[in-house]
Amino acid sequence: MESVVYDTYDAYDAQSDLSGTGQVRVAPSARALATEAVHAGREDLAAQGLHAAPIDLSTTYPSYDSRGEAARIDAFAADGAEPEGPPVYARLGNPTVARFETALARLEGTESAVAFASGMAALSAVLLVRNAMGLRHVVAVRPLYGCSDHLLTAGLLGTEVTWVDPAGIADALRPDTGLVMVESPANPTLAELDLRAIAHACGSVPLLADNTFATPVLQRPADIGARLILHSATKYLGGHGDVMAGVVACDEEFARRLRQVRFATGGVLHPLAGYLLLRGLSTLPVRVRAASSNAAELARRLAADPRVARVHYPRIGGAMIAFEVHGDPHDVIAGVRLITPAVSLGSVDTLIQHPASISHRIVPSQDRHDAGVSDHLLRLSVGLEDVEDLWEDLEVALGA
Ligand SMILES: Cc1ncc(COP(=O)(O)O)c(C=O)c1O
Repeated sequence: MESVVYDTYDAYDAQSDLSGTGQVRVAPSARALATEAVHAGREDLAAQGLHAAPIDLSTTYPSYDSRGEAARIDAFAADGAEPEGPPVYARLGNPTVARFETALARLEGTESAVAFASGMAALSAVLLVRNAMGLRHVVAVRPLYGCSDHLLTAGLLGTEVTWVDPAGIADALRPDTGLVMVESPANPTLAELDLRAIAHACGSVPLLADNTFATPVLQRPADIGARLILHSATKYLGGHGDVMAGVVACDEEFARRLRQVRFATGGVLHPLAGYLLLRGLSTLPVRVRAASSNAAELARRLAADPRVARVHYPRIGGAMIAFEVHGDPHDVIAGVRLITPAVSLGSVDTLIQHPASISHRIVPSQDRHDAGVSDHLLRLSVGLEDVEDLWEDLEVALGA
């Protein structure tokens, strides 16, 4: 069994301001996050006489130089580095998707990023990378998104999971532990973890932080020791409810292994999705801040409402609210008119769902309850509508 020791990635001299001003500066360019959001991954466009990024839908690329192609394939097989020169085949890499990867890595403050067909495909690739090294044991903290929990609990990819409280991480590590996985704020309870302390407890085992809910606008886990940053890009990165995608931001060493797994297993991102994600990133800071301001106000009103038993709203802010009602949560779902009763999150419009019925249905009910996902809990993904209209809809849906 191969055992690998990783140093915490520290190649970028990133300085984060997590104070909520949003002025995260991203080295090496030392530009603010808002600037990177609209420029990263697009630096070459003006020189080509282009403004919008081109969408390259080719599945294959003609070449009269098959010796050169053979060399590029050999190089990729050997180390997983992005092939130099013209692309070969779409499963190996796509220029439009690469732009999104470049931009997301810049926003998260990592060396690289590797995009996949969905968040679950991205997580699967991480697990496969570690499995291939004989490191099949995962230590994880609940709650996680329901399907992430299920993938680990069911051992569908041959992993074995130990669920722990954050304080139990160090003691749970074994020689074959390949990964520690956490979400903060967590889906669906919005529980927050001390990522810095957790990264420390992981020692040389890579920490994977699912940053889907916070986005790099609110928190950059790589700056405080997480080696792998996972996103369901289906959510805030795309931002309009019309793209399914996943991405892992990480150091180039891990990215190479992820690219090799992606090439061999095929969970690639479609170039049109890559284009939409790049476009989505450009408004990410504005969307997250505007939706967060709506959410903070709704959380305040919900907390003051006698029909609401409990409100969970993260200290770092964000556009997600979890709240428990005294009455029947199914009646609230049935009662909304402006708000869309649907799973998923991170879109421009507001969505509500009942985690025990949908997003976390696949988690055994006892585990769900132990993780704080009560049957009365509702999860609200707050969008960009006027806050008064949202409150009016919630008021009616909450009933008498
Ligand atoms: C926090 C989190 N991580 C991962 C996923 C999985 O992403 P996808 O649905 O894009 O596969 C989700 C989906 O809801 C999620 O909420």
